[in-house]
Amino acid sequence: MDFTGKVALVTGGANGIGRAVCLGFARHGARVAVVDRDAAAGAALVAEIQATGGEAIFQAADVTSSTDVRAYVQATLDAFGRIDCFHNNAGIEGKVAPLAEYDEAVFDAVMAVNCKGIFLGLRHVLPVMIAQGGGAVVNTASVAGLSASINMSAYVASKHAVIGLTKVAAGEVGGNGVRVNTVCPGPIDTRMVHDIARQVSPNDPGSVAARYAGGIPLGRYGTAEEVANVVLFLCSGLASNITGAQYVVDGGRLASPAGVTSSGLR
Ligand SMILES: NC(=O)c1ccc[n+]([C@@H]2O[C@H](COP(=O)([O-])OP(=O)(O)OC[C@H]3O[C@@H](n4cnc5c(N)ncnc54)[C@H](O)[C@@H]3O)[C@@H](O)[C@H]2O)c1
Repeated sequence: MDFTGKVALVTGGANGIGRAVCLGFARHGARVAVVDRDAAAGAALVAEIQATGGEAIFQAADVTSSTDVRAYVQATLDAFGRIDCFHNNAGIEGKVAPLAEYDEAVFDAVMAVNCKGIFLGLRHVLPVMIAQGGGAVVNTASVAGLSASINMSAYVASKHAVIGLTKVAAGEVGGNGVRVNTVCPGPIDTRMVHDIARQVSPNDPGSVAARYAGGIPLGRYGTAEEVANVVLFLCSGLASNITGAQYVVDGGRLASPAGVTSSGLR
C-alpha cells in the first residue's frame, strides 16, 4: 500500500480509530488532513506526523455543521489541491438506555453526528472526487449497523443509516471512478468502548469489559490500528473492484452471536 502523492482526509481524526488511520496514511506516504472538534489532540497529531517527516494539516470542525464541512473540504484543497481518500469517521456513542426511556435530545445528537455528519461529508467530498475522476471513501459504521444491540437504539439506527448511505453513494458514483465502502468495527480499544462499559456499570467497568471480551472468538477487543489497516486497504489500489461493501473487523463477534448480551456494546 503506497499512498505517495495521495491526499487523505479523516474526520474524527484526532483520537481513536481516526488517529490510527491518519498515522497509517502518513506512514504510507499520504499527505493528511486531520479533521476533528478536539483541537488540542488534532494539533498534537499533526505535530507528531510532521516530526516523522510527514505532511499534515489540522482543521477544527463539527461534522454536523455544513459550514464546517465545507470549510474542511476547502482547507484540504487549499493545502493539498485534491482529496484521494476520505475516511468519513467521526461518531459518538450516545447513552445506554432502553428505547422506551431513550432521551429525545440524545437521539437527535447521535443522529446528527453519526448520520447527518456522514451525509454532509459525502455531500461535499463526492463532488471533488467526481471532478477529479476518482477517489475512495470509507465510512465508519459498526457491527451495530448490521445487527441490533439492545439499549443502543440511536447508535444502531445511525449506523444502519451509514450503511444505507454507503450503498446509495456507491451506486451513484461508481461510474465516476469513485469507490465508497463501509468499515464495521466490533469492540475496539478506544475511549468510546470504555465509556460504554462505564455507562453499563459505573462501579465496575472492568468486569463489563472482561465479559464482552469473553464473548469475542478472538478473546479480546480489537485495536484502532487493526481497523486502520482495513481502511487503508479499502482506500488502496488493492481494493480496486470493491465498492458498496461492508468490512467487519470484530474478532469474530458478529459470526458468533453467543457473545451477544444485554450490554449494548455493539
Ligand atoms: N470503539 C469502538 O468499539 C467502535 C466500534 C464500532 C464503531 N466505532 C466507530 O468508530 C468511529 C471512531 O470512534 P472511536 O472508537 O475512535 O471513538 P473516539 O471517541 O476515540 O474518537 C471519535 C473522534 O470523533 C471526534 N468527534 C466526535 N464528534 C464529532 C463532531 N461532531 N465533529 C467532529 N469530530 C467529532 C471526537 O473528538 C474524537 O476525536 C465512530 O464512528 C464510532 O462509532 C467504534
